[in-house]
Amino acid sequence: MSLKGVILAGGLGSRLAPLTKITNKHLLPIYCKPMIYYPIQTLVDAGITDILIVTGGTHAGEFLRLLGNGAKFGLTHINYTYQEGEGGIAEALRLAKHFADDDKIVVILGDNIIEKSIKKQVDAFRRQSSGARILLKKVNDPDRFGVVSFEGGKIASIIEKPKKPRSNYAVTGIYMYDSQVFDIIKTLKPSRRGELEITDVNNAYLKRGQLEHSILSGWWTDAGTFDSLLRATNLVAKKEAKV
Ligand code: G1P
Repeated sequence: MSLKGVILAGGLGSRLAPLTKITNKHLLPIYCKPMIYYPIQTLVDAGITDILIVTGGTHAGEFLRLLGNGAKFGLTHINYTYQEGEGGIAEALRLAKHFADDDKIVVILGDNIIEKSIKKQVDAFRRQSSGARILLKKVNDPDRFGVVSFEGGKIASIIEKPKKPRSNYAVTGIYMYDSQVFDIIKTLKPSRRGELEITDVNNAYLKRGQLEHSILSGWWTDAGTFDSLLRATNLVAKKEAKV
């Protein structure tokens, strides 16, 4: 069974207005490259070459113009799909059902940028017969993210943007799922922010006793706010200077 990659690159990017008024967030620059280059490279470096990009809004055509068939990444083909409207991460992921076609998938949010390879964690998921695997990272500002609590070394719960986080471990925007994910998405109800939450998907796997986790090594950042966009640029600039 093959493992496929899904990059979620839709959304309004409203936290980055007015930068996102005339383009999609994932086309904005992070140091020397458009943001979307980084999650593509992350998947390719982990050995995943069958990739779907989910995007939307009025600038979706620009992805095709920028990326074409992915030759820059050694790919011969990229799949694209279009999200009508804006309904959250899990809603966007629903559009990947056809593409996944019962295979396992690695999902990455288009604004998640990391320092090191996730090949080891992806290989662990390849060996996992079923269920899901999430990647965690210790952060100083957990209240901005989905946050796990642990009991006896196991994940006990995941809370989305908790006011009082029960640990410093954020759920990064890299998720690995088997085909149950699409049945789970069907059962979700919109959250208070009006979205189908990926945290609810992960909690559903947790309830089924099928949620594994790995800790991400190296730095991790999102890039969806002015501060994190700047942080991402600075981290990438430092990394590029080292090589
Ligand atoms: C989303 C998820 C959150 C996760 C974060 C990672 O947050 O809802 O659980 O920790 O991505 O980047 P959002 O960017 O929608 O605020």
